Amino acid sequence: MSRLGEICDYRVGATQGELPREALLAGVCDADGLVCLLTDTIDREVIEAGSKLRVIANVAVGYNNIDVAAAHERGIFVTNTPGVLTEATADLTWALILAVTRRVVESDAFLRAGKFTGWDFDMLLGSGLTGKTLGVVGYGRIGRAVARRATGFGMAVIYCGRDDIAYRDDPQHNTLTVTRQAATGPLTQSARIDGLAARRVTFNQLLEHSDIISLHVPLAATTKHLINSAAFAKMKSSAYLINTARGPVIDEAALVRALQQGRIAGAALDVFEHEPAVTTPLLEMSNVILLPHIGSATRETRTAMAMLAVENAIDALTGRNPRNPVVP
Ligand code: NAP
Ligand code: GLV
Repeated sequence: MSRLGEICDYRVGATQGELPREALLAGVCDADGLVCLLTDTIDREVIEAGSKLRVIANVAVGYNNIDVAAAHERGIFVTNTPGVLTEATADLTWALILAVTRRVVESDAFLRAGKFTGWDFDMLLGSGLTGKTLGVVGYGRIGRAVARRATGFGMAVIYCGRDDIAYRDDPQHNTLTVTRQAATGPLTQSARIDGLAARRVTFNQLLEHSDIISLHVPLAATTKHLINSAAFAKMKSSAYLINTARGPVIDEAALVRALQQGRIAGAALDVFEHEPAVTTPLLEMSNVILLPHIGSATRETRTAMAMLAVENAIDALTGRNPRNPVVP
C-alpha cells in the first residue's frame, strides 16, 4: 500500500474477506486502476462500471475471475503475478502428495483420538513413491516445478500440455503423440525439457499410466471438468489425484462417486468446484485431504505477489506497458 501511495491515492475495499458486490461496483466507478483478489469476480458489469479503469491487477497467477475479453475490448490492461508463487505452490503440491499417500492427516487424527496403543506392523500402511509415475497435467511453471521435485523421490514423470488436452478426443492427434513418445520404454534425449527427464504423452495415456495425477492447468473452457467420470474410469484404482490448480477442473460429483466406488485410492485438494463450499461426502472420507486454497500461502510469497500486482498497476498508471500483461 505504501508503494502504491507513492504514485496515487488509493482506497481499500475490504481489509478481510470478500468485498461485497455493491461495494466493488461503487468503488470502481471513479478508479483508474483496480488491484483485486482471485475471490473478486471482475465481470463485464464491473468493468463497465469502471469507466476510467486503465488496469486490473490480479493478485494471483490464475485470472479466471476476470472477464479478460471485456477488459481488452475497453483497452484495459489485465495483469497477474506469475513466477513468484511457483515454488510455494509446488511445495504445497508435494505436501499433499506425501500427506495423502502416507496417510499423514489420518494418522495424526488416529493418535489424537487415543487409538495409538502401541507400534503395529500393519498399522496405517500407505503407498510408496519410489519407482512410481507422476502424471503432470499442464506442464507450465508450477507443473515443471512439481516435476523437478519428483526426481528427488525417484519417480518417473509423464506430462501432457495444452494441445494434448484440447485435442484429447481427436484420434489423429493421439496417434501422432503416441507414435512420437510411447508412454513406456526408455526416455529419449528429446523427452528432456529444462534438463528434466519427463515424457510427453496423450491425456488418456497419462490417466492410464500415472500413480499420482497432479493438475496444473488454468481454469478455461477446455479444462472445466477435464477430470470427469470418463477420466476416472481410465485411472488406476491405486492412483491418487492432486489438485492445486482450480476446483472446477474436476467434476466434484464424479470425484465423490469415484472415491465411493474405489475407482481411485485417494485425493488431495487445495481448491474446490464451489469454493469455499466443499461437496459434503468429501469431508467424511479419510483418504481425502482438504486444504483451504493455501497453495501460495507463505509470508514471502504473498508479499511478493502483492508487490508484483502493485508494480503492474503502477506500470499501467504511469503510462508504461505492465510487466505481466495477461495475453489469452
Ligand atoms: P502456466 O505457467 O501458465 O502453466 C499452465 C500450463 O497449462 C501451461 O503448460 C499451459 O500450456 C497449459 N494451459 C494453458 N491454458 C490451457 C488450456 N486452456 N488448456 C490446457 N492447458 C492449458 O501457469 P502456472 O503459473 O503454472 O499456474 C497454473 C495454475 O495454477 C494457475 O492458472 C492457477 O489457476 C493455479 N494456481 C493455484 C494456486 C493455489 O493456491 N492453489 C497457486 C498458484 C496457481 P502453454 O504452455 O501451451 O500455455
Ligand atoms: C492462486 O490460486 C493463484 O492463482 O495465484
